[in-house]
Amino acid sequence: MCRSLLLLPLLLAHTCVPVSWSLRCMHCETTGHCREDECALGQDLCRTTIVSTWEAGENLNVVQRGCAHPEKTNRTLSYRTGWKIITLMEVVCGTDLCNRPQTRFDPTLFQSRSRYLECVSCASSDLSCERSRSQTLQCRNPGELCLEVVTHQGPEDERHIRGCGYLPGCPGPTGFHNNQSFHFLQCCNTTKCNGGPVVELQHLPPNDFQCYSCEGNSTHGCSAEESSLITCRGPMTQCLEATGSDELGAENYTLRGCATHSWCQGLHVAEGFGLTQHRVSCCSGKGCNHPTRDIQPRLGGSPRPTSTHLSLTITLLLTARLWGGTLLWT
Ligand SMILES: *[C@@H]1O[C@H](CO)[C@@H](O)[C@H](O)[C@H]1NC(C)=O
Ligand SMILES: *[C@@H]1O[C@H](CO)[C@@H](O)[C@H](O)[C@H]1NC(C)=O
Ligand SMILES: *[C@@H]1O[C@H](CO)[C@@H](O)[C@H](O)[C@H]1NC(C)=O
Ligand SMILES: *[C@@H]1O[C@H](CO)[C@@H](O)[C@H](O)[C@H]1NC(C)=O
Ligand SMILES: *[C@@H]1O[C@H](CO)[C@@H](O)[C@H](O)[C@H]1NC(C)=O
Repeated sequence: MCRSLLLLPLLLAHTCVPVSWSLRCMHCETTGHCREDECALGQDLCRTTIVSTWEAGENLNVVQRGCAHPEKTNRTLSYRTGWKIITLMEVVCGTDLCNRPQTRFDPTLFQSRSRYLECVSCASSDLSCERSRSQTLQCRNPGELCLEVVTHQGPEDERHIRGCGYLPGCPGPTGFHNNQSFHFLQCCNTTKCNGGPVVELQHLPPNDFQCYSCEGNSTHGCSAEESSLITCRGPMTQCLEATGSDELGAENYTLRGCATHSWCQGLHVAEGFGLTQHRVSCCSGKGCNHPTRDIQPRLGGSPRPTSTHLSLTITLLLTARLWGGTLLWT
């Protein structure tokens, strides 16, 4: 992408003609108020994020639009909770104002009558995953898979979700765990293939790897004394270390733990933990992500600025939190 070369003035003169070009996207709040917005450096995509609920034949859409970082991809996730079907959808495009309402993407188009894969669906918000009271859900979009998502980070998360969708990391399995957090995603493509007991970290078999675990900065949470060696489980065989700015803008927030290869590329760290300006590195070998050991970034984990964005997971958490106050849905 041309604009990333702005940081390299020597190259700039030869390769980039429209020096000040920057993408313009529609910026729309959930209230429906929209304006045109010039995207910040490094934001090369426009996004449309839609959260829909279906209940008793009624459909309610909440739409947000804005700029997005270049790693964003189209994604969907649908699941049942109680009598509702929740659908989260995010579509990205790369030309000026391409996320304008009613052009390329109109939420009403989403009310597809087609049926594709049939999947098992449950969610932690009605305890249907925990109590094995799964229902079935017909996927409405071609290309959607049956999936299982585990987000175990804070007390209010929608920990388990099963349903239809397509998320970055599919088919997986892809995941990360340490003493505080567990993120896991797996997708499959045959009828109700996402059934059976839900994935819990303690039920994944230990593998032969051990890594340091911590979350925090170098004095609070991730100091050498606060980092402890943990046994890795399931497919998580890489020792990961990521450093970036947290959601509150505090620098050098650090994360250590066991991860699958796909987490070493940065997107999942950004989306799962809201880290921006992050640097991710992985290594394999017992305890190789030790706080005092300098490990080399790999697999595209070089320093790379990303921009604050509303990730699907965060959107999801937002809606999960709002259910308590029934702000959005009634
Ligand atoms: C994302 O979805 C939009 C709208 O459905 C489509 O036009 C676009 O080609 C998709 N992009 C990718 C990379 O699949
Ligand atoms: C992390 O887990 C290990 C093993 O379960 C335990 O020994 C250690 O005290 C824990 N560390 C923290 C900081 O919770
Ligand atoms: C279904 O998944 C299997 C295994 O992941 C893969 O080999 C196959 O191509 C997939 N089929 C379709 C139609 O996506
Ligand atoms: C680490 O975070 C704590 C608060 O969480 C803060 O008081 C402290 O100054 C931070 N240390 C560094 C080195 O940034
Ligand atoms: C973060 O780490 C870098 C490199 O080690 C250092 O230069 C910078 O001062 C640190 N920032 C804070 C707020 O501690």
